[in-house]
Amino acid sequence: STTPVKVAVTGAAGQICYSLLFRIASGSLLGDTPIELRLLEITPALPRLEGVVMELDDCAFPNLAGVEIGDDPEKVFDGANLAMLVGAMPRKEGMDRSDLLGANGKIFTGQGKALNKVAADDVRILVTGNPANTNALIAKDNAPDIPDDRFSALTRLDHNRAKSMLAKKLGVNVGEVTNMTIWGNHSNTQFPDLFHTKVGGKNAYELVNDEAWYENTYIPEVAKRGGAVIKARGASSAASAANATVEAMHDWAVGTPANDWVSMSVVSDGSYGVPEGLISSFPVTCKDGKYEIVQGLDLNDFSKKKIAATVDELTKEQGEVREMGLI
Ligand code: NAI
Repeated sequence: STTPVKVAVTGAAGQICYSLLFRIASGSLLGDTPIELRLLEITPALPRLEGVVMELDDCAFPNLAGVEIGDDPEKVFDGANLAMLVGAMPRKEGMDRSDLLGANGKIFTGQGKALNKVAADDVRILVTGNPANTNALIAKDNAPDIPDDRFSALTRLDHNRAKSMLAKKLGVNVGEVTNMTIWGNHSNTQFPDLFHTKVGGKNAYELVNDEAWYENTYIPEVAKRGGAVIKARGASSAASAANATVEAMHDWAVGTPANDWVSMSVVSDGSYGVPEGLISSFPVTCKDGKYEIVQGLDLNDFSKKKIAATVDELTKEQGEVREMGLI
């Protein structure tokens, strides 16, 4: 029998995980490979998490080899092969972005240290909890024994939103859209790049042929889609965030299709002028559990400006958490 892959998930009693855990357990992550779920929550949420585990039991998923829950990251992350860090503190009224960075910073210093101590040697860590890029940076910095290329932050939801909105504009099936790229931060400054995107193999920017729509409608609507969902649903994106999280980890572990790439926020090696060490979104291909940043794309002046702006924001966030002593 195969040893189950240990998949750690944080924020397990929250709304994203109410979709995510069932997707993982039903095979969206690793097909029929047996999985052991290790679920982390804060102490007051553990009774609610027990209810979620009851429902996982009631699904009778054959690939689900076991579930452990707890509030101690050193126990829950023990031996973890894949870690999805979804749990974070939501922004409350009166909190500004730096309050949020500080509050979440403490969560990710602790979880980084715990992963460093107890995770499996092959661990791969994906941060969904916001501010995702900077939370991932904090976790990485607090886990000096884990190689930098094992950390990533989620920009797959932005990537999927960008594909879907483009397909709608052109009246094509979303499956026709390939080579989409989200550059930079998972925030309003992100840059969805249509200059390298293909639709049915043709250049997306040329097919759209509408500069005003691209700059004034598409780019802001992709970036602000999360807010639009909150307005319509009365709650933030959950099922689509879960879908993106499971797809991102699947592709990282299993591989991206030939002739396509995905957007992942990973540690910059200086590619495309992004300062080394920042966790910024790039076009990447994945194979055998490793990603590579796609090289050699030509960036026009418009793209360079957009990328510089979103990367500046990441640099500022890095400076803030450094001042707070979190990295
Ligand atoms: P939620 O508030 O429903 O659930 C979060 C859960 O995390 C709660 O159950 C909470 O108790 C738990 N939690 C808090 N601190 C924790 C800790 N130290 N350890 C373990 N668990 C902890 O929130 P939801 O909707 O599930 O969203 C989770 C995060 O994902 C939020 O930060 C949200 O902003 C972010 N998000 C990111 C997206 C992306 O594209 N990167 C998209 C959508 C949401």
